[in-house]
Amino acid sequence: MSEFEGKHILLGVTGGIAAYKAIEIASRIKKEGGLVDVILTKGATNFVTPLSFGEVLGRKVYVDLWENQAEPVHIRLAEKADLVLIAPATANFIAKTANGMADDLLSTTMLAVKSPIVVAPAMNTNMLNNPVTSENISKLKSLGMRIIPPAEGILACGAKGAGRLPEPMEIVEFARSVLSNNKRTLSGKKIIVTAGGTIAPIDPVRFIGNRSTGKMGFAVAEEAVSRGANVVLVTGVSHLKDVHGAKTVRVETTEEMRTAVLAEYDNADAVIKSAAVADYGLEEVATEKIKKKDGEFVLRLVRNPDILKELGEKKKNQILVGFAAETEKLAEYANKKLVEKNLDFIVANNVKSEGAGFGTDTNIAKLMFRDGRVIDAPIMEKSELAKIILDEVESLM
Ligand SMILES: Cc1cc2nc3c(=O)[nH]c(=O)nc-3n(C[C@H](O)[C@H](O)[C@H](O)COP(=O)(O)O)c2cc1C
Repeated sequence: MSEFEGKHILLGVTGGIAAYKAIEIASRIKKEGGLVDVILTKGATNFVTPLSFGEVLGRKVYVDLWENQAEPVHIRLAEKADLVLIAPATANFIAKTANGMADDLLSTTMLAVKSPIVVAPAMNTNMLNNPVTSENISKLKSLGMRIIPPAEGILACGAKGAGRLPEPMEIVEFARSVLSNNKRTLSGKKIIVTAGGTIAPIDPVRFIGNRSTGKMGFAVAEEAVSRGANVVLVTGVSHLKDVHGAKTVRVETTEEMRTAVLAEYDNADAVIKSAAVADYGLEEVATEKIKKKDGEFVLRLVRNPDILKELGEKKKNQILVGFAAETEKLAEYANKKLVEKNLDFIVANNVKSEGAGFGTDTNIAKLMFRDGRVIDAPIMEKSELAKIILDEVESLM
């Protein structure tokens, strides 16, 4: 059976020269059993007509936000969509969407959409390479939208370069892969993810920190959101942007992270603790900036609360996953942590290995389970490792 069978696909067509290709996209999806609703922008109607799509699909085609004032069409179309596909997407549409504007039917509908969104930018190379457009495309990506990279070649304007809309078949295949990967397998489940590093303040201006950037935890949170989970991301220091669709709680110290996690723990189904938590804090934090003096300066550190251990002790039905970042004796230390903290499994990585650990986009990990099972994950994107981790969480659930 086709992935499109019985699925509501909302196809947005904007005012680019490649708009004619959208007719074939609509037709292909319809042939596979998809229920295609089309919204054309006013700009798009200069290139293609509602009639062209209406004839191909045998359905009403939408253009005007104000056409039927008795019914908010934008909400209805957004709510029933299993996937939104914008092809072609103009620079103007991308800019509007990146800024939450809602001044026509398509842009207004976009604000109400909950399904995955696929955007296929197509424009002149200079428009594409314009820093404002690049930034807007990055913003859409960071909001969780999937971008189909524009193809290179001779453009309609005669220029040669990137910006062409890929062929309809390629766009349909991209949409198919997003639909089939959109497993809502964690729907109704509450997942707490911790990320980043916590710090130990010394005085109002100084702290002791670690090298964690939060990339691994943010990747897990993103994947859990895409599987339909109710995600609480508790993050220590990280420059990464909030994960769209998750509740992001930003903390600094270990104590603050403990409070934030415990507040959510009772009704959680799983906790994935990838944060690099500061094990030690200052015995006394100075309230004023410490002034420089001659001679040695000694800081006295005391143990911070062990959040993972506490979660292990309080555990009822929650699946508890820990991380071990080690520089030596990886399996031995990770196994000790697995047992001592009452974890279901631990994700161990040697932060000294190339392609693993802090700040990289990739990781190399060993997933170690209570029954002695071990999964060796070779070097891969953190987003891929996040999928493996959540597959295991799901099967333990
Ligand atoms: C002949 C012609 C071709 C155009 N092709 C494109 C294009 O391929 N991509 C694009 O981003 N804008 C293109 N534009 C500009 C858009 O049509 C214009 O920015 C418009 O405001 C887009 O409106 P919309 O985003 O609501 O559809 C073109 C304009 C003209 C006159």
